[in-house]
Amino acid sequence: MKLAVPKERSDNETRVAAVPDTVKKLTALGFDVVVEAGAGDASYLPDDDYKEAGATIVGSAAEALKDADVVFKVRPPTDEELGHMKSGALLAAILNPYKEADAIQKYAKAGVAAFAMELMPRITRAQSMDVLSSQSNLAGYKAVLDACAIFHRAMPMMMTAAGTVAPAKVMVMGAGVAGLQAIATAKRLGAVVSATDVRPAAKEQVESLGGTFVMVESEETKEAETAAGYAKEMSEEYKKAQAELIAETLKKQDIAICTALIPGRPAPVLITEEMVKSMKPGSVIVDLAVEQGGNCPLSKPGEIVEAHGVKIVGHLNVAGRLSADASSLYARNLLNFITPLVNGETKQLAVDWEDEIITGTALTKEGAVVHPQFQQ
Ligand code: NAI
Repeated sequence: MKLAVPKERSDNETRVAAVPDTVKKLTALGFDVVVEAGAGDASYLPDDDYKEAGATIVGSAAEALKDADVVFKVRPPTDEELGHMKSGALLAAILNPYKEADAIQKYAKAGVAAFAMELMPRITRAQSMDVLSSQSNLAGYKAVLDACAIFHRAMPMMMTAAGTVAPAKVMVMGAGVAGLQAIATAKRLGAVVSATDVRPAAKEQVESLGGTFVMVESEETKEAETAAGYAKEMSEEYKKAQAELIAETLKKQDIAICTALIPGRPAPVLITEEMVKSMKPGSVIVDLAVEQGGNCPLSKPGEIVEAHGVKIVGHLNVAGRLSADASSLYARNLLNFITPLVNGETKQLAVDWEDEIITGTALTKEGAVVHPQFQQ
C-alpha cells in the first residue's frame, strides 16, 4: 500500500499531513510512505528526518501521488494534484466542503474516495481523530499571544515600588475548544477573563478555568446545542439581547478573542462597529472567525487593521502559526483515522463503509457523492 504526502501548495499553509513520528507508525501498519521533498520544511521537519523514519523522498507531487492508495493532505488537492491521483485512491484532508461544493464533484469524477476530516463526528471513539479540536486548541492559545504581542500594557497585575499595574481584562467570544484554551492561556498570563457562549454547557467549563461566564439565558439557549455539540444560529430576538449584554461588557475590556462559529454558516457577528467604538483606545480584538466572515465585521482576512483606536487582528491559519505542533497533532489525527481502516493481517485497506466515522466524513466514493449533506 502506497501512502503519499505531497507538499502543501496553498498560500499561508505551513503544516504537513505526516511527521517523522507518524511515518514510522504508518510504515509499521504496512504503508510505503512517499513524501514530496520539502513537505515538512515550513514545520521545520527536514527530508532526512522523514527518510530516517522510513519514508521515500521524491522530487515532485506527481511522483508522490502516482499509484498512491492513500493520500494525506492538509488542504484540498489542487486540480493538478487530483489529476495525478488514481481512481479508487483514499484522500484524507481538511476539504472545506461547505465552501468548496464544486470540488466535491471533482473528487467524485476522479473516482477518489474523499474524506473531509473536519466532519469527524464528535463521539468518544473519534476524539483522537478530531482535527477541528486539535487545531482550534492551538489557535486559541496563539490568539492570546498574538493579542499580547501588540497590546500596549502588561497582562498580569504587578505590584511594584513605583505603583501597581492593573491586570488586563480579556473577553472570549465563544467558549468551545479555541475559546476554552484562550481562557486558560489568558488566565495563566494573569489577565482577568470573562467569556460568553450560547450553549449553557459552556458555563461550567468557563468557570472551572477561572473565567466569569456572561450569557443571555432564555428558553432558546436550552436548544442552542445540536446533537453534535455545535451551536445553532440564534433568533433575531436573542441576537438583540445578546448584543446589549456584550456591548455593556466589552466597554470595560482590553482584549477580545473571537472564536464563535456555526458549522456550515457564516460566523455570527458579535462585535459590531458601534461596540468597537465604545472600546478603550489601544484595545485589541483577535478574530479567529475571520475566515468564516468574522465575529467582528471590521476584521480583514490576513491583516491587522486599526479602527476607532482598536487594533483588529485577522491572521489566517492561526494554528499554522505554530506549524510544528499543528503538524504533529494533525498528523496524529490522520494516523488515528487510517489505523482502524487497515486489516492487521492482510496489511490491506478494509474500510467499513457502515461505520459512523466513515459515513460522517466520506464525501465521495466510486464516482458518486455519498455524503447526504452534499448530494445535489
Ligand atoms: P465551534 O468552533 O463550532 O464554535 C466555537 C464556539 O462558539 C462554540 O462553543 C459555540 O457554541 C460558540 N458560538 C456559536 N455561536 C455563538 C454565538 N452566537 N454567540 C456566542 N458563542 C457562539 O465549536 P467547537 O469549539 O469545535 O466545539 C463545540 C463543542 O463541542 C464544545 O463544547 C466542545 O467541548 C465539544 N467537543 C466535543 C468533542 C467530542 O466529544 N469528541 C470534541 C471537540 C469538541
